[in-house]
Formats: sequence, C-alpha cells, structure tokens
Amino acid sequence: MIQNVSIIGLGKLGASMLAGMASRGLNVIGVDVNQHAVDAVNAGREPVQETQLGEFIARHKERIRATLSTEEAVLGSDISFVIVPTPSDERGAFSLQYARYAFKSLGQALRKKNAYHVIVLTSTVLPGATRHGLLPILEQESGKKCGLDFGLCYNPEFIALGSVIRDFLNPDFYLLGQFDQRSGDALEQIHHRVSQNNAPVRRMTLENAEIAKIAVNSFVTMKISFANMLAEFCEKIPGGNVDVVSDALGMDKRIGRKYLTGGFGFGGPCFPRDNVAMNFMGGQLGVDSRLLACNDDYNRGLSRRYVEKLQPHFPKGANVAVLGLAYKPLSHVIEESPGVYLCRALSEAGYRVVGHDALAAPYAETALKMHALVTSSLDEALKDADVVLITTTDKPYLTLTADHLLRGRGQITVVDFWRALTDLARDPRIRYIPIGLATATQADEKLKNLWQG
Ligand SMILES: NC(=O)c1ccc[n+]([C@@H]2O[C@H](COP(=O)([O-])OP(=O)(O)OC[C@H]3O[C@@H](n4cnc5c(N)ncnc54)[C@H](O)[C@@H]3O)[C@@H](O)[C@H]2O)c1
Repeated sequence: MIQNVSIIGLGKLGASMLAGMASRGLNVIGVDVNQHAVDAVNAGREPVQETQLGEFIARHKERIRATLSTEEAVLGSDISFVIVPTPSDERGAFSLQYARYAFKSLGQALRKKNAYHVIVLTSTVLPGATRHGLLPILEQESGKKCGLDFGLCYNPEFIALGSVIRDFLNPDFYLLGQFDQRSGDALEQIHHRVSQNNAPVRRMTLENAEIAKIAVNSFVTMKISFANMLAEFCEKIPGGNVDVVSDALGMDKRIGRKYLTGGFGFGGPCFPRDNVAMNFMGGQLGVDSRLLACNDDYNRGLSRRYVEKLQPHFPKGANVAVLGLAYKPLSHVIEESPGVYLCRALSEAGYRVVGHDALAAPYAETALKMHALVTSSLDEALKDADVVLITTTDKPYLTLTADHLLRGRGQITVVDFWRALTDLARDPRIRYIPIGLATATQADEKLKNLWQG
C-alpha cells in the first residue's frame, strides 16, 4: 500500500492537497520553486491563504515536509502529483510552460530511481496535452518507458476556492485518466484512502478525462448563464420571480437546482477560462462550439447590459456604489469578477464609482485604478451614493437597513442582484430594483401589447 506521496507545486490547490492527504495519514513531501512556500510549510504554516489550510498543516506537521528538490521528493515517495500553474495563453488555451519545466525535473529524478513511480498531473490541461505535450519529456529525461518503468495519470480536482480542503476530501467523484491499468490502480488506491465520503471513481483514458474536466466547468457556466437569462425573463412577466421558477426547474431530476439562482455572472480563476479553452479546443478540432462562445459573450456582456438599464434613470456623474468586488462572497479573489467589470462599465458610462469589499478591496484597488475609488469601509462607500448596486451576498450587505443606506438623504436607488433585501421595497424613500423579480409596470404592458387585439 502506498504510504508516501509527493506534491509538486504548493499553491492554492497543491498546498491544500498536501494538507488534506496528510490529514488522512499519508506522509507527504511538498516541492515548490518558491523558497517562501517551502519555508512556510516546513515551519508548519500555510504558504497561501485558504480556509483551514494553516490549521491542517500545523495539526499534521509530523507527516509533512517540503523541499526545493524534485529529486528528493521522487526518491522519497511512490507517487507524485503535479499542481503547477497552467495559465491561459493569448489563444485561450492552457499554457504548458510551467508543467514542462516540472516534468523535466521529474524525468531527471526518475532516471535516478530504480523502483516504479507514478506521475499524476492535476493541473488543468486540454485534450492531448498529457500524452503529447508532457509524456515525451518524462521518457526523454528519464530514459525510461511509460507503462513499464513509471506510470502516468491525469487527475484534475473539482474544488472551489474557500473550501478547497473540504471539497478535496469530499468530492462528488474522482476523475481518473490513466495511461495504463497499473498507473490507474495506484492512483485509485490513494483516492480510497483520502476520500472522506467514499466518492466513486470514474476511470478512463487520459484524453477522456481531459475533456471531462473542462466540460464539467463549461456546463456549470451554461447553467449560470441560463439562470441569468431566466432572471431577465421573470422581470418582464407579471408577478415574475426567478426564485420561484428556478425552484420548480430544480425539481426536475434532469436539471437540478444547483447553480440556477439567477443574479449576476460567473467569474473567478476557473469557470470563465475553462469555458474559453473548451471553445478554443472546439475550433482546433473542427467542432461547432458556438454554444460555448455565446455563453462567454453573454456572461461578459452582463455588466454592460445592467449599465444600459440604469442609464435612462440616472444622469452621468451620479454617484454609484458597487458593493461586492470579489467574484463570490467571502473571498478576496477578483479574477474575472463581475463586480469589478461592473465598476469599469459604470465608470466608462460616466458615473462616479465607489467599490466596496471587506476582503477584496486591496486587490481591487489596482485593477480599478482608473475607474473607481475602492474601500473596505461600508460607511465610506455609502456616504454619497445615489445608487447602490449589491453584487454579492456578503454578510454585511444582508443586514443593511433603509436608514443605513439613506444616511439622512431623501431618496436612494438600490439594485439588488440576489434579492437579499426585498423588505426595502416597502420603504417609499427607496427605489428598489431586484434583479429577477417583476416590477408591475414593465411586466403588464408588454404582454398586453402582445396579445390584445
Ligand atoms: N485554484 C483553483 O481553484 C483550481 C481549481 C481547479 C484546478 N486548478 C488548477 O490547478 C493548477 C494550479 O492552480 P493553483 O491555483 O494552485 O496555482 P497557484 O499559482 O496558486 O500555485 C502554483 C504553485 O506551483 C509552483 N510552481 C510553479 N512551477 C513549479 C515547478 N516547476 N516545481 C514546483 N513548483 C512549481 C508555484 O511556485 C506555485 O506555488 C492550475 O492548472 C489550475 O488551473 C486550480
């Protein structure tokens, strides 16, 4: 039974995997090219910010060590997981630049090892990348044969930032792409050991696993966009309520309720880029993947669309506060964040914008330099606001009252993307615009015109 594993790349995913595996009794050696990451792990601290990461590393310190040397890690373990960055390139594909470098070191280490060893790529890559982009490097550098002297798998994870360790230990399923049976057997053993929820394992070829990974994320983003479109339909139907409709849709087992809460677009480090990359792959393979292109286009267009809706009601120069700059609640990550895009679109339309986020403000400041003032103080964000747009369900926003929003002024407009403050609708001093709920005037007229006479 495999007891010793190594992790190459101690970033948000890799460090969390290291901590999660150690918590399940495995001895884990972490490798990073960054001395700070190695030092942090060896000191029992988290190398990056992630929920429970520091706690887990400190608690399972006796089974964890880190090094700069890939060779040391390969010689001291039976299986190595590679979780280095695969950034999007200018074509929308995933670059193998870092993975190639890591695989070169792994190949050189394999040359010095007599025993069988399994290499597992966890970084997100596109179909064909593992077999044609990386495997030849291992064989060339090691002088050995894959499937005989060493094994190779592609094994991506489905995790969300903020709950990486929990998701890693309790996945819906394990997606296991194997070069051959023996490689897959070794990896499946690890999964059974690590899983807290006895998650099923789906084994397949490397290429099927590569396409399955990006297909999962692309499909989820289509659900999100569908729900956002549905929200707009509901705004235009008398009594329309996207939550009521989505709850009904969710009852259908073919659909399910998850990711169907219409409100605002998807963002973050994985969803948008996986969708774009799958579309790139479609283009390369001659597949009609317009569905994916359209999804991306629709999602990126949402901010502009909301600004267009506001424009008739507010003159240029009005003060607009955008509450929520991270791509989801309780996060500091602003990558591809709809809140940040909304600030930019508002500023380009001539509004004076203040963005608020308790956690993400320091990161958003640079991204919005030319477009908005950014603050982590809610009072400051609301001070002069004529319009308040609430883009996430972060806790401080859920308890906002009319008085808090008005601050002595006579009138204010609130656009509530997630329908979290519906009580505000009863206050005559507030023009409350919930996304996904009908407003009487809009709704009736259009339908009457369509059907009467
Ligand atoms: N973070 C997520 O939410 C998430 C989710 C699913 C998949 N992924 C995928 O996982 C991969 C890594 O993502 P991440 O967010 O953990 O990245 P990250 O940037 O947080 O961490 C990557 C780490 O790898 C290290 N590294 C780079 N080259 C190295 C090398 N040759 N040897 C050893 N270490 C090296 C870096 O120093 C860094 O610490 C990407 O392919 C990403 O698409 C990430």
